[in-house]
Amino acid sequence: EQKPLVVIGSVNADLVLPIERLPKPGETLAATSIETVPGGKGANQAAAAARAGYPTFFVGQFGKDDPNASLLRGALLGCGVDLSHSQDVAGPCGTALILLQPGGENSIIIVGGANTTTWNLSDGVRQLLAGAGAVLLQREIPESVNLEVARLAKAAGVPVFLDAGGVEGPIAPELLTCLAVLSPNETELARLTGLPTGSEEQVRVAAEQLMAAGVEAVLVKLGSDGSLLLPGPGQAAIRQQAIKAPEVVDTTGAGDCFTATYAVAVLEGGAAPQALQFASAAASICVRRKGAMPSLPSREEVEALLTSLQS
Ligand code: RIB
Repeated sequence: EQKPLVVIGSVNADLVLPIERLPKPGETLAATSIETVPGGKGANQAAAAARAGYPTFFVGQFGKDDPNASLLRGALLGCGVDLSHSQDVAGPCGTALILLQPGGENSIIIVGGANTTTWNLSDGVRQLLAGAGAVLLQREIPESVNLEVARLAKAAGVPVFLDAGGVEGPIAPELLTCLAVLSPNETELARLTGLPTGSEEQVRVAAEQLMAAGVEAVLVKLGSDGSLLLPGPGQAAIRQQAIKAPEVVDTTGAGDCFTATYAVAVLEGGAAPQALQFASAAASICVRRKGAMPSLPSREEVEALLTSLQS
């Protein structure tokens, strides 16, 4: 029987404004529409794993009196995510303002809301963690919660994945020593290490610095350049090219999709190169569609794309 993936993290209502370009200081621009779609790095990752067919719990905080809470819960449940350990707390849900630019690039401003108010890990969540196949974290909830969760997981022998997306700033040294996999993009990698990440060699050197700080494996997301995995101390790096999308519509959530589907493939016993391929296919589908959570592919879609690449 598969031990579940437990994703602990943020859930946001994404307010998406398509714009031609970013406004300059003092300038007013018109967006072509405004739409509220389900998102948040934690919720996206839970949804991506569940859509990929893996039993997944999401432990997050929803704002009690916020009408967006039911939209967010409904979207996660619709993806097959178990929400029985999530909580309702006072105040609004987390919100993300997403300025979506032509070519699919986005600029995001987040308001923490329920994600960043006080967290209390219930006994039920502690038990869930102890019996998990893996725990997946991001950085849109307080670092103290991530650290507490990572300590508990490590003590129970449960691997911890941390997607470095979310707040800027250093990761607590103790948290780094609890991680089976840390997954930054190249910008996050540069910020975390203070090193340049302009070339593949520089990315490798910077990732090695994180391993020297106690992380077991580093998975660097390079956007349209694919990804680079340092699988463990003394092991050779593995390079995966991106699977090109015919048209990039919206990259929001693609990183979340990549990290979560990589975790799923590893949990299912896949070898690293296959896991990277699976995640690349999932992310490639994600960028072809609008919105964070609504763009996450099903397992069938990912497998169909992988099959089509073989022929
Ligand atoms: O990673 C994408 C997510 O970042 C969006 O869904 C938005 O909520 C922000 O948290």
